[in-house]
Amino acid sequence: MARASHEIRAEYLKFFAARGHTVRPSAPLVPRDDPSLLFTVAGMVQFKPYYSMPPEQLPFKRATTVQKCLRVNDLEAVGRTLRHHTFFEMLGNFSFGDYFKTDAIEWAWEFTTKVLDLDRERVWISVYEQDEDASELWQKIAGVPAARIVRLGKKDNFWGPAGETGACGPSSELYFDTGAANGCGKADCAVGCDCDRYIEFWNLVFPQFDQQKDGTLVPLAHPGIDTGMGLERTSFIAQGARDNFHSDLFRPVVARLQELSGVEYERDTTTRLAMNAVADHVRALVFTLSEGIYPSNEGRGYVLRRILRRASGKLRGLGVREPFLYRLVEPVVDVMGTYYTELATGAPRVASLIEAEEQRFLATLDSGMARFETALATAGGPGHTLAGREIFTLYDTYGFPPELTAEMAGDRGVTVDMDGFRTAMQEQRQRARAGAAFKQNTAGAAPELVLATPGESEFQGYERTRAENTLQVVRWLQGHASEADRNPDLALGGETFELVLDRTPFYATSGGQVADQGLISNADLIWRVTDVRKERGNIVHTGVLLQHPSELHTWDDLVAALRERAGLQVLATVEDEVRADTARNHTATHLLHAALKKIVGPHVVQAGSLVAPDRLRFDFNHFKGLEPEEIRHLETSINDLVLRNLEVRTVVEDYETAVKSGAMALFGEKYDARVRVVSVGDYSMELCGGTHVRRTGDIGGFMITQEGSVASGVRRIEAITGRRAEQHAAVLRQRAQELARVLGLGPGQDAVRKSTELLEENKRLKREIAALQSKMAGGLSEDLLRQATEVAGARVLAARVEVAGVDALRELADTLRREMKTGVAVLSTEDDDKIVFLAMVTDDLVKRGLRAGDLVNRVAKITGGGGGGKPNLAQAGGRDKARWQDALDDVVPAVRALLS
Ligand code: SER
Repeated sequence: MARASHEIRAEYLKFFAARGHTVRPSAPLVPRDDPSLLFTVAGMVQFKPYYSMPPEQLPFKRATTVQKCLRVNDLEAVGRTLRHHTFFEMLGNFSFGDYFKTDAIEWAWEFTTKVLDLDRERVWISVYEQDEDASELWQKIAGVPAARIVRLGKKDNFWGPAGETGACGPSSELYFDTGAANGCGKADCAVGCDCDRYIEFWNLVFPQFDQQKDGTLVPLAHPGIDTGMGLERTSFIAQGARDNFHSDLFRPVVARLQELSGVEYERDTTTRLAMNAVADHVRALVFTLSEGIYPSNEGRGYVLRRILRRASGKLRGLGVREPFLYRLVEPVVDVMGTYYTELATGAPRVASLIEAEEQRFLATLDSGMARFETALATAGGPGHTLAGREIFTLYDTYGFPPELTAEMAGDRGVTVDMDGFRTAMQEQRQRARAGAAFKQNTAGAAPELVLATPGESEFQGYERTRAENTLQVVRWLQGHASEADRNPDLALGGETFELVLDRTPFYATSGGQVADQGLISNADLIWRVTDVRKERGNIVHTGVLLQHPSELHTWDDLVAALRERAGLQVLATVEDEVRADTARNHTATHLLHAALKKIVGPHVVQAGSLVAPDRLRFDFNHFKGLEPEEIRHLETSINDLVLRNLEVRTVVEDYETAVKSGAMALFGEKYDARVRVVSVGDYSMELCGGTHVRRTGDIGGFMITQEGSVASGVRRIEAITGRRAEQHAAVLRQRAQELARVLGLGPGQDAVRKSTELLEENKRLKREIAALQSKMAGGLSEDLLRQATEVAGARVLAARVEVAGVDALRELADTLRREMKTGVAVLSTEDDDKIVFLAMVTDDLVKRGLRAGDLVNRVAKITGGGGGGKPNLAQAGGRDKARWQDALDDVVPAVRALLS
């Protein structure tokens, strides 16, 4: 009795091998030599030619396999029913002109009732309505009562061909009645019903025809057998599980999905079905990617993309918003890897491919869902039709496969205009052909790709930070991306692009305010915007690619792809947080300007400004530095305006009117006839094109970090707002705490007082040390003098002393010079692990020809060193410590020699 899925596979092959079948391995999911098939959809696919081959050419007449299959014709049913799959395994036995119906039926019955040990009373049979033999055979061989044999039409009981041509014929299927509880409950529910009660688990096909390209059925010279038993369904039935997804093939995957997502599988039916679909899809992805197929926009790759995006959509419905699917590769490989041993090695690569593809889709998924909802509402909701153009936009800009849109709309009772979609697609292609022009710049510089004629770009950024727009790539600067912006994982990751949009929410650098940051993206391309500037009426975005389809390897590939889609629709997304930071600083700059005029004086004139996300800088004319009280006063009055939460208003009006009503204009600035006026309460009114907060409260807080001079008569204030101010305050507090800790302050003790005390004490200690040192030097010199010997009327001293460094040594030499009157001293000490010699000679002895330099050199040489200096004081370094004493012992003979 086979129960576990691995036992079912093994028993099946063993059973048919024992009946003369050659066991063959599974063919790959991508069929060889059959362009009419995207994927292997059945066990017989690898044997297609055998059905019409002369018997003597056949390598074997009977075969049996466990075949990997992928079917996407009813992708939408996966996760709706409990029995449909994309990837599944089919166990099959095949006869090529050898045995026919009798054996096929007999063996199927034997395997079902003896090996699988299924309850024969619950097994139902369907036969093709015109196939009298089959019905009789089932009764005769298997003893199935006529009451459990159902006759069905061509739709259910005529199979094939796989692809356009090949073997096909009537079939007979085995069903298992899983019980009324699983059924739809309708009165006419029976075998063939669309619900999950009667599960068709084994299809016996009796191929009798060879379908030609034109659809004609040519009878096969030798009819054959082609059976397919679904492993997932069979495992579920044999294991008495609740459904396929509770069989041992799926349970671990579903369990891990539940654990990692934190979503309760049993929450409700929708959740359960969505999780089933995800578990199914990840298996399909693991198997296809392992075979080297990649997600793309065409053919097999597109099928993978659809499967992955459908899974992403389901996950989003479960509240999962990050790449997630890739984490299920592991449980899939755990379950399937013991039979399909090739899976394990590729698993890390497969996981990272899935993650990258998820990221690509997630970048637009949220906006796409918002767009989808709007489109549904615009369409009029249930009972209405979603326009083809909308389906196209969702496809082109947000990467929603049209089938996915159709399915999601269907779930909400909205039909879709697929013809309209195809028309929109067609129009796009035509525009592409007509409008795309790619020219090498004559200057030999960056080529320019024009997808549409750039008109004036419209700035939408006052109202919104994200919008759909038409992209034009105007220039390409090969390999210009900075090290930090470069993406080494991407073929085109080093290129810089200059992009123009018909309208854009991105603010271009101007009026002191720096450009916005953010992304320009669609379903498979993502640019990170690194700069935005104005150029002859256009707003030009500089961007580097963060992602592009992996099938693009060169700029030419990208150009071809962009040409395909002239007037490419993209999503421009400004980074809101950064924009908000910048806006805080901009409004604060206006407040600072006004406050300076009030507090420092009406003569203050703006000389320049910088408004960045992390700080603001304001230069102004003023003759002297600001007093600390003035700085404090500026801060308090601006923070007071913040607390008052004044409205920031903008109007566009005539320049004259604006200036007359008191708006500050910048000297030397050229203004249009119509100007934008930004005012804050009645405190500030300036001509300004920048982006601002809505109310002063949004600024959060204002703090001056620096005040100084930049040129004669020009002062500069640097300040911060919002979260930077908060962070800065935190840093200051941390420093204060650190200081208190280092100073060992007790509670209530003041750091300034404590530091002053410490500095005083430090000064006093220094004085004391100096006094002690000279006292010690005195004592030392006395000791040394006692060691001196007489050579030719001069006192000679050679000694190794322990003092703190060369300076102390010199000090000691000076003392000795005073005390000795007529004398020579060679002092030596160890400084920084090196030997130092210092020779002192009193002036009278210098006159007699004794030079300190000569002496110290001769002595130091003994240790392998050398040096020199003035006649009365010279210094040398020594090397060999082992000869240190020898050197000192040479002083007396040296003096004697040098003096004579
Ligand atoms: N080719 C048939 C099927 O796919 C039986 O193997 O159902």
